[in-house]
Amino acid sequence: MRPDATLALVTTAPISQMRRLVTELPGPKSKALDARRSSAVAPGVSSVFPVYVERGEGAILVDVDGNSLIDLGSGIAVVSVGHAAAPVVDAVAEQIAKFAHTCFMVSPYEQYVAVCEALNARTPGDHEKRSALFSSGAEAVENAVKIARHATGRQGVVVFDHAYHGRTNLTMALTAKNMPYRHRFGPFAPEVYRVSMSYPYRDPEGMTGAEAAARAIEQIERQVGVENTGCVLIEPIQGEGGFIVPAPGFLPAISAWCTANGVAFIADEIQTGFCRTGDWFACNDEGVVPDLITTAKAMAGGMPLAAVTGQADLMDKVHVGGLGGTYGGNPVACVAALASMQMMDDLDLGAAAKRIGDQISQRFAAMQADHPGIGNIRGRGAMMAMELVKPGTMEPDADAAKRIVAACHRAGVVTLSCGSFGNVLRLLPPLVIEPELLDDGLGVLADAVTAEL
Ligand SMILES: Cc1ncc(COP(=O)(O)O)c(C=O)c1O
Repeated sequence: MRPDATLALVTTAPISQMRRLVTELPGPKSKALDARRSSAVAPGVSSVFPVYVERGEGAILVDVDGNSLIDLGSGIAVVSVGHAAAPVVDAVAEQIAKFAHTCFMVSPYEQYVAVCEALNARTPGDHEKRSALFSSGAEAVENAVKIARHATGRQGVVVFDHAYHGRTNLTMALTAKNMPYRHRFGPFAPEVYRVSMSYPYRDPEGMTGAEAAARAIEQIERQVGVENTGCVLIEPIQGEGGFIVPAPGFLPAISAWCTANGVAFIADEIQTGFCRTGDWFACNDEGVVPDLITTAKAMAGGMPLAAVTGQADLMDKVHVGGLGGTYGGNPVACVAALASMQMMDDLDLGAAAKRIGDQISQRFAAMQADHPGIGNIRGRGAMMAMELVKPGTMEPDADAAKRIVAACHRAGVVTLSCGSFGNVLRLLPPLVIEPELLDDGLGVLADAVTAEL
């Protein structure tokens, strides 16, 4: 009975991987839903573009009016394996028909253990590791800080300019940008210290990664003191802050300082993880091995799952019962994660991310040659961005980013903006996107850049 009902849900006609507009965007049904939304949904929860989605497959979203849009955002780096990926859909359907929840802290199950094993094996470093599972990225970051404080006995948490770590009380304190994340939501958690990030485009010209690290370390030693610093928390490539790739040498130097001083080095790979940057994790690029790593987003193909993975000797210090949560490591999310990670292996999505990155970089470079308002192109793998400035200056142009994103959406291509100054246009396509579809999306973006810059 149950399995048949689930199967009926999952056997839907395939969606062709093509952009196709049958109404203006947003269409009439999306507009009607948006009217309903305005009297039902809290306005604090916003949407980039009010086009309501009915289905998705691969890199295509179909809206309620029957338009097919190209998704170059993946729900903010989540559906790296594509929308409605068959192995994920099948695993979820099968699991939910067996049991949806027991709470791992009450009655455990193998799926949770298997995800921890998979994370321990894939995260950087071949030392002994342990993992704990949660439901959201912010929750993982909070728990990483809890573990680091507990294990080191020191309270200070060092974070960086332009950082984004979430919206809970502690993670708001860790996040750099006031509007919209922190504004009027304080007071924030104490013992959080912010130091300078390596931001090659805006740092003094020629500043090396080692010099940028020395600047940050001097700030830590002066403002916090080694003996008070429990952890240094960093995104190896900053996501919401503007896809800022630190200069080579920056991360290894910060990590080495942490090791030398008994400080836990926490890599927040919630946005960069799971093949997004061309490798399993962005830290691998420079051989950096974090003490603790936080993951979420792409891990489970769209199901809510997050984790902290870390050195066994740190993780084992926390007392029994000190970590957990009702939904953390939900079995349906766990099987989705196992299926997603298997797809990443089977389809070599790391290599796919590199190919996508090359294709985007070439088109971005051609756009930059024609438009001085594109001040900087950066990123790694399928995590690429352009920083927009007033031509001939380094003054951020947030309006240009807004206009370009809106023009792309009207033409059926989902793109995103980000950045401390709101002036960065970013692409995070599903790693299964076909080159022709990506080419079409990039063509729309090139037209939008020409029209709006
Ligand atoms: C680097 C990073 N850390 C933490 C978070 C917070 O994750 P969540 O929104 O799942 O709480 C995000 C979300 O964008 C992120 O990019």
